[in-house]
Amino acid sequence: MVTLYPGPIEVGGVQLKNHLLLAAGILGTTGASLARILANGAGGVVTKSIGPDPKEGHPGPCLIVVDGGIINAMGLPNPSAAFVDELAALKGEPVVVSIFGGTPEEFRTVADWFVDRASGLELNLSCPHAEGYGASIGSDPALVEECTRAVAALGLPTWVKLTPNVTDIAGIGAAAERGGADAIVAVNTVKAMRISTSLRRPVLGNRFGGLSGKAIFPIAIRCVYELHEACSIPIIGCGGVSTADNVVEMLMAGASAVEIGSAVIDDIGIFASIADDLYSHDGIDAREIVGCAHG
Ligand SMILES: Cc1cc2nc3c(=O)[nH]c(=O)nc-3n(C[C@H](O)[C@H](O)[C@H](O)COP(=O)(O)O)c2cc1C
Repeated sequence: MVTLYPGPIEVGGVQLKNHLLLAAGILGTTGASLARILANGAGGVVTKSIGPDPKEGHPGPCLIVVDGGIINAMGLPNPSAAFVDELAALKGEPVVVSIFGGTPEEFRTVADWFVDRASGLELNLSCPHAEGYGASIGSDPALVEECTRAVAALGLPTWVKLTPNVTDIAGIGAAAERGGADAIVAVNTVKAMRISTSLRRPVLGNRFGGLSGKAIFPIAIRCVYELHEACSIPIIGCGGVSTADNVVEMLMAGASAVEIGSAVIDDIGIFASIADDLYSHDGIDAREIVGCAHG
């Protein structure tokens, strides 16, 4: 396997300690858990998605383990503006705040709370199980462009996280770029469900959820590859990454960094162990392989 030269990098306007970030929604609800992930070797962290009003989320069950991954339907539970206080102890650290809203104005309102407190913002335009939010907006290129423009105008690095549950992800990526995004994050979870054969009913309280983990890695690679052909801003690959070789494959598809979610649930030490395999002092500059799989 190719190894990379270690050291800090800059992606989409954010300074990171390495290429490996914590994905939104996993251990990202308190300042203490974010600090712990950074201390465990992550190059940056993305918080749980924060919205305009406090939200309890969907009724349970909210999460099921399946072959090769998990399906969750959390329903974007979050404390809203109260989350601002969690960031006090993380000043200067590479913390990207994930935000959501139902309209460009709501996105702008939530973004405003974090202007002096975050290294960047990640717009969740991609959650597959929250009606009126996430993927409902993220499937419409015009709305993606408007929401991105509303937030990018604040001047903080603006990343836009896309859903794989669309027929043309490259078109949505291009809309984010037109709106002024500094980077694209690809992807959120893949819409999915299971049915209990004994109860004859859907397992999740919300019926539908989003599949994550190893099972979606080939889908994420395909999305990053398509986006690299359509967009000129950096792409951050997300979905099923659990090894250093997966990181190299993401870079070859066109990603400049990766986010890791489900694999952290299995192993909180995953960032340090991937970094051990990925970096060496005789490694190459990562930029040499970004997008190298394209003709
Ligand atoms: C329990 C759980 C909660 C999540 N919450 C969020 C969230 O709040 N906002 C968001 O943009 N993505 C959320 N995601 C999606 C992840 O950030 C990531 O895009 C997805 O899980 C794919 O990456 P992975 O296969 O490495 O987990 C969540 C995923 C899981 C498993």
